[in-house]
Amino acid sequence: MADTRPIGVFDSGLGGLTAVRVLRRILPEENLVYFGDTARVPYGGRSRETLLKYARQDLRFLRSRDLKAVLVACGTVSTTSLDTLQAENDLPIVGVVEPTCRRALAVTRRRRVGMIATLASVRSGAYEAALRRLDPQVDVLCRPCPLFVPLVENGRFERGDVVIETVAREYLSPLLEWGADTLILGCTHYPLLEDVLADICGPGVTLVSAGEESAFELKRLLTARGLRAPDGRRGEAEYYVSDQPEDFERIASVFLQEPVHHAARRIDIDKY
Ligand code: DGL
Repeated sequence: MADTRPIGVFDSGLGGLTAVRVLRRILPEENLVYFGDTARVPYGGRSRETLLKYARQDLRFLRSRDLKAVLVACGTVSTTSLDTLQAENDLPIVGVVEPTCRRALAVTRRRRVGMIATLASVRSGAYEAALRRLDPQVDVLCRPCPLFVPLVENGRFERGDVVIETVAREYLSPLLEWGADTLILGCTHYPLLEDVLADICGPGVTLVSAGEESAFELKRLLTARGLRAPDGRRGEAEYYVSDQPEDFERIASVFLQEPVHHAARRIDIDKY
């Protein structure tokens, strides 16, 4: 039976909109509710306890709606809190780690996979563990890139921007010297850096983006469980944030790569 209940999607800020962009493309008939915790971004340097507290609140807010599934469009929450969220909730919850690692292993030629993400994600060891579980022969090198999220949130992500190019070159050089042939962008803010990163890596390195792969995983899951909305309709997307939403339309249109005409609504996340 067709199911038109919305899919909940959340991130620490607006980076998770890169996953929404893919969802809108591959599941245009679905209704989406997005929450970006803009009052508390970035999550990437915080402790596990704080991240779990934030993730629970984010999910509790989304679950004030009758959802059919959730996409955790945040690498940092996926690497540190996904198991707990799945154990505490009675609906399907998809994170970014597992689908992204499967994709990286499908495209790597020499089984040398690099991974960049926030400090909390790298510290968790989650990407490394998943890659090794799926392929014990794989070589993995993970590096934190703590300056990427603030630079992206401040619009410094375009080709030719000397600040982002300098920082990216410095972060990527150990991975390139090590000989990565595949690079996982383990944080959902990073797809905006794809041009800059691809220029530095060159054609010998395949980039795999976390938000994109998890959107495909969610589609497979909804299809397998008979939870898809009927074809031929256009789903609605609603956006919520936890800080002032004034600039939302402009920034969101960059992440979604399409004009955004509806404003986001602000909620008080401390109530959840
Ligand atoms: N988009 C979040 C992630 O995927 C950004 C983390 C942050 O807020 O620092 O990890």
